[in-house]
Amino acid sequence: MERVKTGISGLDEALNGGIPKGNVILISGPSGTGKTLLGLSFLYHGATKFNEPGVLVSTDQTQEGVREQAKNFNWNLEELEKKNLIRIHHIDVTEVKDAEYLEKIEKLAKEVKAKRLVIDSLTTLTEFLAPMEVKKCDKLFEALESIVTVPLSEAIVSKSILIKIIKKLKELNCTCLVTSELPEEGNWLSRDTVSEFLTDGIILLRPFKYARKDIDLIVTKLRYGSHSKDIHKIYITEKGIEVKPAEKGVII
Ligand SMILES: Nc1ncnc2c1ncn2[C@@H]1O[C@H](COP(=O)(O)OP(=O)(O)OP(=O)(O)O)[C@@H](O)[C@H]1O
Ligand SMILES: [Mg+2]
Repeated sequence: MERVKTGISGLDEALNGGIPKGNVILISGPSGTGKTLLGLSFLYHGATKFNEPGVLVSTDQTQEGVREQAKNFNWNLEELEKKNLIRIHHIDVTEVKDAEYLEKIEKLAKEVKAKRLVIDSLTTLTEFLAPMEVKKCDKLFEALESIVTVPLSEAIVSKSILIKIIKKLKELNCTCLVTSELPEEGNWLSRDTVSEFLTDGIILLRPFKYARKDIDLIVTKLRYGSHSKDIHKIYITEKGIEVKPAEKGVII
């Protein structure tokens, strides 16, 4: 399978050449571990090193917020936006109605002929959409719950929303990163405990309990290609994200 380079120093090596083209990869980690920055780097390098247009769908930050974050690394997103190499779209999840958000994502991706797409965060999107969908289907659930013994929960609805989103991303023929916020403790690989099974690959970001500067990066799954099984370390500096193999012999 053809690989798409992230352009992030060290990460493409950990991915044995890059992300398999068209795959949807989950970036999971607690707050402040670099999920947004990883997604942004994927788009920025895509645009500047490989001339590949990309779309960032952000639920947590406004367009201005994303541009500000990029300035930290001397990345001029406005310039790339003018050249149609980057589109930033903020979804206010409290205002979302029906499937309009998917139509908008599709429209933006087509407008710039996107090859890369980032949803930051998938968790926020599904967490807000699930209760809305449950409400819409109240009557159906009542009827179903009277005939099936398995409880119909928001988790099932979340799963159906996730399936819908991932199906749409696959149709767009983009290589995608989607983020999920993890609690500090716990064994799941995503907040919703479902995304890890539906996505094609997982990059797990794991902070050392007491210090954010020591963040592990582990590629825990890649369905359609080989990858490093080693623990890597993330370094965030004013130059952006760098990934390096963890020193051999260090017990983690
Ligand atoms: N110029 C810089 N130099 C060093 N580290 C930086 C710099 N800019 C940002 N960082 C680090 O990057 C982290 C933010 O990363 P990012 O916003 O990608 O995290 P996140 O995982 O998306 O968090 P959240 O889940 O809260 O959205 C900061 O907490 C900080 O440690
Ligand atoms: Mg973030």
